[in-house]
Amino acid sequence: MKLLVTGGAGFIGSNFIRYILKKYPNYQVVNLDLLTYAGNLENLKDIEKNPNYQFVKRDIADKDLVNDLVKDIDIIVNFAAESHVDRSILDSAAFIHTNVVGTHNLLEAAKNNGGKRFHHVSTDEVYGHLGPDDPAFNEKTPFAPRSPYSASKAAADHLVMAYFFTHNLPVTISNCSNNYGPFQFPEKLHGLFITNLLEGKKVPVYGDGMQVRDWLFVEDHCEAIDTIIHKGKIGETYCVGGNTEKPNIEITKKILELLGKGEEMIEYVKDRPGHDRRYAIDFSKIKAEFDWEPKTNFDEGMKQTVEWYKNNQDWWREIKSGEYLKYYEKQYAR
Ligand code: NAD
Ligand code: TYD
Repeated sequence: MKLLVTGGAGFIGSNFIRYILKKYPNYQVVNLDLLTYAGNLENLKDIEKNPNYQFVKRDIADKDLVNDLVKDIDIIVNFAAESHVDRSILDSAAFIHTNVVGTHNLLEAAKNNGGKRFHHVSTDEVYGHLGPDDPAFNEKTPFAPRSPYSASKAAADHLVMAYFFTHNLPVTISNCSNNYGPFQFPEKLHGLFITNLLEGKKVPVYGDGMQVRDWLFVEDHCEAIDTIIHKGKIGETYCVGGNTEKPNIEITKKILELLGKGEEMIEYVKDRPGHDRRYAIDFSKIKAEFDWEPKTNFDEGMKQTVEWYKNNQDWWREIKSGEYLKYYEKQYAR
């Protein structure tokens, strides 16, 4: 099988490529990634010489390039996205370009080349947010996105389903809860808080810190996508969750504990505008159909994550200093 993985230089995409090449040594992977601020080839250093791996630095919205690339591939797995809610509040143009226009371009290329298999990686944030006692999101929950990020992801999900109904494109979608683990960019909760503490800085908890997310270790997400691309029913959506609902303050205190730091390192800051209060996922469909469920428990996942940031300080220090971007500017200068 030959996969076109978009956004493979980002957090989840790079974990997924490593997972696939290890599990299926005969598969080929083409990684199409624009290397925005969030894309980093250091994430794939250990596999860059693998003969079954190829990297292409381009935009998923590039019509001719994408059309050529998909010709000899079997499946597109679309991770490429602008993924950070706070950035979408400051400026959402790139979110519309990549998440909506880019996904549309991939769908067109899939349709125009014989109807390629298409898996779209999406988020639980398309469903909006929950009150403390509301039942968890499932595949039937109506979309109600509340940030420019989640609105752009919802638009993409609608397009994917439109190509299934209108053009018979063989699609699947996964809507997953918050991921954490190795290679997460240090602007998201775990990456930022762990690296701040390793630098001796405080951690900025938004509002009262009681917003709840359903945390999933990234490798478990990779396994869910692997399951769906091989066994998923065409035209179906699968909700993927961690069974680990935690308020942000509990995550924060766990990180402090693992790093031997005290609560004086917490700084409560102004809340995010429109901050979604709670996400939770009911993953009983993928569990019932394919027996998928998360394998990594919270304590184990948190321990592995903190250890990874402790042992890979060059990786995140280069990102935080901005050095990694200068390297790509030189490498890909025209
Ligand atoms: P990320 O921001 O770490 O990585 C995104 C990658 O996409 C980067 O490598 C970037 O260079 C690339 N990219 C951006 N614009 C591009 C373009 N126009 N053309 C080609 N490449 C482009 O994101 P992530 O956290 O790894 O998330 C991956 C996917 O999973 C996203 O679609 C996101 O919506 C979804 N998702 C993420 C989470 C999470 O907790 N991180 C949870 C559920 C779903
Ligand atoms: P984030 O990792 O940005 O994911 P998302 O917004 O997509 O859920 O944030 C996770 C939670 O952590 C969210 O409720 C916002 C909160 N948060 C903070 O309190 N402080 C921070 O500095 C960041 C980045 C996030």
